[in-house]
Amino acid sequence: MTVRWFDTLDSTNSEALRHLDEYPSGTVIAAREQTAGRGQRGNRWFAEAGQNLTFSIVLKFHGGEIPVVKAPWLNFLAAGAVAAYLEDQGVACSVKWPNDIYAGRRKICGMLLENSLSGASLAASVIGIGINVNQREFPQLANATSLALQTGRTYAVGACLTDFLAVFEQQLPALFAPSQLEEYNARLFRKGEAAAYRDLLTDREFRGIILGVTEDGRLHIQDAGTREERFYRFKEISYIL
Ligand code: BTN
Repeated sequence: MTVRWFDTLDSTNSEALRHLDEYPSGTVIAAREQTAGRGQRGNRWFAEAGQNLTFSIVLKFHGGEIPVVKAPWLNFLAAGAVAAYLEDQGVACSVKWPNDIYAGRRKICGMLLENSLSGASLAASVIGIGINVNQREFPQLANATSLALQTGRTYAVGACLTDFLAVFEQQLPALFAPSQLEEYNARLFRKGEAAAYRDLLTDREFRGIILGVTEDGRLHIQDAGTREERFYRFKEISYIL
């Protein structure tokens, strides 16, 4: 993998998508500062300049290698690599579906995967990852944490990226190995616990128990009241934290 560091970008995902044709597969776009970091659901991603990791991995695929239905496996891989990297640093973590990484009840990493399609297959994927590293105060966010807050240490941000990419590269050849989904499910945040959710299709709040994530990336949840089992896609359910 080749890392291209920038002092300032609007967003590493936006940079990767703007110049997708020019960046070969395996390029990593990293920025010390993002002025318009993007999150899920059109949210902003806030990260203090120079204190955190904000980067995007460009992967390109050939000849219908990855059908669109398999796209969630890129989430499983990326989430597994971040979790394994953080665990190497001594931080126990869980994966909040679809791709937030939590340390205890606080978010330490967010991911934004943006795919470009060729027919019904993936042509390229931009895997945007924000890991909170040295930042210790999060004025805009109620439930954020960082590596530094979890371990009490201060990190060299560039070395963190090198270490993370070593884990990611090691796992990449096993993209479709069943163990990727098994490990994802083993780390699943709130799995087996009764907790509050909002069904965004019916705009109804309910208590549910997460049973797991399916191979097509849906959240399998049992209604704790009616015992009915349902499957949700991204943006069809939200967690009440
Ligand atoms: C989320 O939790 O809502 C997803 C956050 C994703 C943030 C990363 S930081 C690097 C990359 N560039 C962006 O603009 N966003 C992602």
